[in-house]
Amino acid sequence: MKSKEFYQLLESRKSIRKYKKDQPPREVIERILMAGMQAPSGKNRQNWRFFVVTGKKRDEYLKYSQKSWLGIKDVLQEKLKPSLYQFTERFFFTLGDAPVIVFCYSNNTPEERYHTSIGSVYMAAENINLAAIVEGLGCCTMGAPLEIKQEVDQFLGVTELPEYQAGELELLCAIVMGYPDHEPPKAPRQTEGRITWL
Ligand SMILES: Cc1cc2nc3c(=O)[nH]c(=O)nc-3n(C[C@H](O)[C@H](O)[C@H](O)COP(=O)(O)O)c2cc1C
Repeated sequence: MKSKEFYQLLESRKSIRKYKKDQPPREVIERILMAGMQAPSGKNRQNWRFFVVTGKKRDEYLKYSQKSWLGIKDVLQEKLKPSLYQFTERFFFTLGDAPVIVFCYSNNTPEERYHTSIGSVYMAAENINLAAIVEGLGCCTMGAPLEIKQEVDQFLGVTELPEYQAGELELLCAIVMGYPDHEPPKAPRQTEGRITWL
């Protein structure tokens, strides 16, 4: 890949909140998750864990998504203009028809500091965002499920997994994914005051 293409890829990434209903093939999702796992990680622990939800289970999750909306709607009502607030509310109720949800967890253990464990998973999440574009998909990273973390753990059966001790796996975000069905404008980047050279 030429460097120009790489920078164009970065610039073309946008959060997608409206999807076609078509289900992406499983091998495509697997390639995207493999790209996620190319990320660097603290002490090379590769402590990411992904739970992929599609089909009926994905439909079942909508009621949880709606519940997570309750935790953030007041903040957004103050911040967003009414049309965008309504669009966002609808997104939480439908997940924009996204056929795939990837829940990203960190496996936290005393071997590695908390913040680097978490940072490693978010690095994988960005790789996933970019690989999705290369595969012709779009996605939206969502922190909203953290509003109902314990319920999501139970919904996914994370608390029942015998290979992990209680509390070892921590939900960090969900990435909803599918074929884009809109072309939102690029959110302008704010670069001023973000870099200090010493
Ligand atoms: C950690 C994280 C959490 C986010 N949580 C949500 C969310 O809960 N709901 C949502 O609609 N977008 C969410 N987003 C997407 C941001 O709103 C989006 O990245 C930002 O507005 C910039 O737009 P862009 O991604 O199109 O550049 C999240 C993004 C990140 C990185």
